[in-house]
Amino acid sequence: MRFLALDVKILPVPAQRGLSGPFFYGLLCCVAFNVLGGVKNVLADEFPSLRRQADIVRLVRQDCGSCHGMTLAGGLGPALLPALLHDKPAESLVATILYGRPGTPMPPWGDFLSENEARWIVDKLQKGFPDEP
Ligand code: HEC
Repeated sequence: MRFLALDVKILPVPAQRGLSGPFFYGLLCCVAFNVLGGVKNVLADEFPSLRRQADIVRLVRQDCGSCHGMTLAGGLGPALLPALLHDKPAESLVATILYGRPGTPMPPWGDFLSENEARWIVDKLQKGFPDEP
């Protein structure tokens, strides 16, 4: 609603400055399109839904845990505890999860996890991974 109110207020101004109607409305559409695009991107970057988070916690504790240890303190794979991960670049950890580490037992998870979900896992691993619900 605030957006609409803003439109109404600024509408008369361009007419006084001699901007042609179609040009102005084209510009307005362009701005609105970008604003909506921005909103869409923000939503796309959101963390997974609570239900999906519970599934992911289970997956990490059980499937990842089979190599990284049930408490993520290490096994065949290295420990995934905050002390070890907090200062590693999140982007590279996300890539490790999605694409694996070729030449090591770390498999790619891109078929099972979206990029946002991998990002959520890394965020949680770096802070302290939640227990299974
Ligand atoms: C089959 C065993 C295995 C499974 C299953 C596995 N990993 Fe790994 N993972 C490894 C190994 C081994 C490494 C170390 C690779 C290397 O030597 O660089 C690793 C490395 C990593 C790293 C990088 C750690 C660091 O300190 O750089 C992350 C993050 C990671 N795994 C997350 C996961 C997650 C999340 C899952 C589950 C979605 C998972 N792994 C499942 C074996 C596994």
